[in-house]
Amino acid sequence: MNFLNIDDLTREQLEDVLTRASDLKERTARGKTADTMDGQTLAMLFEKPSTRTRVSFETGATQLGGHAIFLGPEDIHLGHGEPVKDTARALSRYVDVIMARVYDHADVVELGAYSTVPVVNGLTDDAHPCQTLADLLTIKERFDGFDDVTVAWVGDGNNVCQSFVIGAALVGLDLVVATPEEYGVDDAVLDRAAELGNRPEITTDPEEAVSSVDVVYTDVWVSMGEESERAEKLDAFSQAGFQITDDLLGDRALMHCLPAHRGEEVTDAALESENSIVWEQAENRLHAQKGLLTYLLA
Ligand code: CP
Ligand code: NVA
Repeated sequence: MNFLNIDDLTREQLEDVLTRASDLKERTARGKTADTMDGQTLAMLFEKPSTRTRVSFETGATQLGGHAIFLGPEDIHLGHGEPVKDTARALSRYVDVIMARVYDHADVVELGAYSTVPVVNGLTDDAHPCQTLADLLTIKERFDGFDDVTVAWVGDGNNVCQSFVIGAALVGLDLVVATPEEYGVDDAVLDRAAELGNRPEITTDPEEAVSSVDVVYTDVWVSMGEESERAEKLDAFSQAGFQITDDLLGDRALMHCLPAHRGEEVTDAALESENSIVWEQAENRLHAQKGLLTYLLA
């Protein structure tokens, strides 16, 4: 199976991946590794930069007894020298799993359609399901499950937010989403959340969004590939009061997928405050993806 969107997993499968992640986290903490990927190779395709996704996947593959190959935009023919479907079929003859970070979501869909090994979405313009796995693991650990916690998303309604909306719907997590009107979540994503029985509350008012929640989650205002919209987006978000400051955060926990642009979507003080759980969240990328790899390769 492929993991292109968070709801490629059912709720039960998602819980299985999170349980595997927690087990592997405990084992790694005791210095042990697993051998799930013994002799197996992960190909990692990147059209955009990455710190966490790249290093956590490569480290994860090593800790599972396997090997990972980094393939940057200048290294292979993907997207310029040959059609995506040809890359998918050739790589499938060599490696056991493919992870790809690309601009156009349709490209991971094509990779998945033509690959004979599992394809994992490592971020597209529309979705970041691996991030959602780590986010849910972080919330589950901190709040002992999803029943007694409410989250406010305050920021752009694109990739990270969209996967989180559907992930929250899958596990029954209460969510309020605040975005400026013009940067909201796609209707199809909200419809899917409703279909799963948990459409988030939508607002354009950050203060209203955070008023009765336990966690505030944000992401950059200018995503990779949106550099030409920078001035326009900074204006729209800052004028509407979307920056996470100590005042807006109060005593709520702060989540951020990172990288953070201090002084834009979040202040340095808020990010460095004791309410910030961003480093647990970043660490959990490793454990969540190891859980995912063992699930996909089982
Ligand atoms: N959150 C996340 O995906 O970070 P990177 O861009 O560093 O991989
Ligand atoms: N929304 C951000 C997330 C980075 C992990 C981006 O797409 O650049």
